[in-house]
Amino acid sequence: MPAGLAKASLRAGGHNPIRMAKSQTRFFCQSCGAESPKWAGQCAACGEWNTLVEAPGEPPSSGRRSSRAGGYAGTTALKPLNEVEQDAMARTPTGLTELDRVLGGGLVAGSVNLLGGDPGIGKSTLLLQLLCAIHATQPSMYVTGEESLSQVSMRAGRLGAGDTTLPLLADTQVEAILDQAQRLKPRVMVIDSIQTMWTDALDSAPGSVSQVRESAARLVRFAKQTGTTVFLVGHVTKEGAIGGPRVLEHMVDTVLYFESDQGSRYRLIRAVKNRFGAVNELGIFAMTETGLKPVSNPSAIFLTRDTQPVPGSAVLVTREGTRPLLVECQALVDNSHLSNPRRVAVGLDGQRVAMLLAVLHRHCGIAMADQDVFVNIVGGVRVTETAADLAVLLAALSSFRDRPVPHDWVVFGEVGLSGEIRPVPGGEDRIREAAKHGFKRAIVPAANRPRAGAVDGIEVVGVRRLSEALDAL
Ligand code: TYD
Ligand code: MG
Repeated sequence: MPAGLAKASLRAGGHNPIRMAKSQTRFFCQSCGAESPKWAGQCAACGEWNTLVEAPGEPPSSGRRSSRAGGYAGTTALKPLNEVEQDAMARTPTGLTELDRVLGGGLVAGSVNLLGGDPGIGKSTLLLQLLCAIHATQPSMYVTGEESLSQVSMRAGRLGAGDTTLPLLADTQVEAILDQAQRLKPRVMVIDSIQTMWTDALDSAPGSVSQVRESAARLVRFAKQTGTTVFLVGHVTKEGAIGGPRVLEHMVDTVLYFESDQGSRYRLIRAVKNRFGAVNELGIFAMTETGLKPVSNPSAIFLTRDTQPVPGSAVLVTREGTRPLLVECQALVDNSHLSNPRRVAVGLDGQRVAMLLAVLHRHCGIAMADQDVFVNIVGGVRVTETAADLAVLLAALSSFRDRPVPHDWVVFGEVGLSGEIRPVPGGEDRIREAAKHGFKRAIVPAANRPRAGAVDGIEVVGVRRLSEALDAL
């Protein structure tokens, strides 16, 4: 506050107008975390309806100081960029290879990692497994706000780690937890889950937006000040965002999402934000009787196909993060009885599929306007990159014409609106991965064709136009 104002209000006998304004009720959007001085049916920031909830004014600690919570304490002096010493950013491998991969190589001291996912997907299992494995070398602490200690112990027994000396704490009050942590000085701390945490400083109920925000802010500050690696478990709302305000995602260093196909035993962890590593990196686990096991050769599990080639299937090489991954794209094209034929995409962007079908019609004269089109990526992977375009079209066409794509072919490439095939990043890596799994022919964007002799054992066909790709078929 400006010095003049502060003096004026002191002279006025403690009646501080700025304080007064601060303690007034405010409203927060549960979807984007935006703040508003009065209630409205629609959030002005994100346009969502009925998401504003009332929260009491926050105490000074969360007003001014919490905005610094994401930063590093004690660095208020100016310093030229080239004189800032870089922390070597020591990484501690966790032993769970796939978790190390999504984290960008291991645990980073002082980092705050948010792990989100549907209920029952395995968040608590993964983190308990992690702590049991590293506790001997990295003193750790597990805080549960949802389960009793005996439930946690039962799970540990199931994981074959029942006799570990890992300190457990069943508490939901942040100050009490931080007291214990100050005493114990763990290197790694898990908070399961952030939505159950509450702080003394606020009156609102646990689970409310302001409680989640403020609790997280305190834990972040603790992590930065002490260099403790903190994992926060976050629940996911129906819409798939981490429950509570989106600000949670801004406050932390890494946001990991657990994904899975219904009923599948494979679990994918995706890094959607990572200040210390590649984003969109994918870690793959299998849920077994004794916890989560890293899957080291994921292409093999996503490619369990019929022994005979069938129409409506094409294999593509997608690149999630830094690793190429072979996945099967399936399509079913069938006569529609609806005036508005259906377009259903699972594991892909539905809008993109509609667009691709339009390109196929306009530039190759193949009309599917009277057909229902279903497209699915097998194995519960979500493909977010455009390299899948060509495989989607080939699978759809193969189903439409009832002619299988040969079993040992692989395709990838982006399809542009004028029917051109555009290159995608990491072409050579993808082709190499396909060759490694015994594929004999790759249909790829011409610009992605590797130098002669760069990849052995696979014939690479480079195409420039969609029509050329169809000819190659
Ligand atoms: P849990 O880790 O409690 O999920 P979350 O914390 O994300 O809600 O859920 C684990 C699920 O996995 C539960 O349905 C039981 C199952 N499971 C196994 O199949 N094997 C195991 O070894 C363990 C511990 C759990
Ligand atoms: Mg849990």
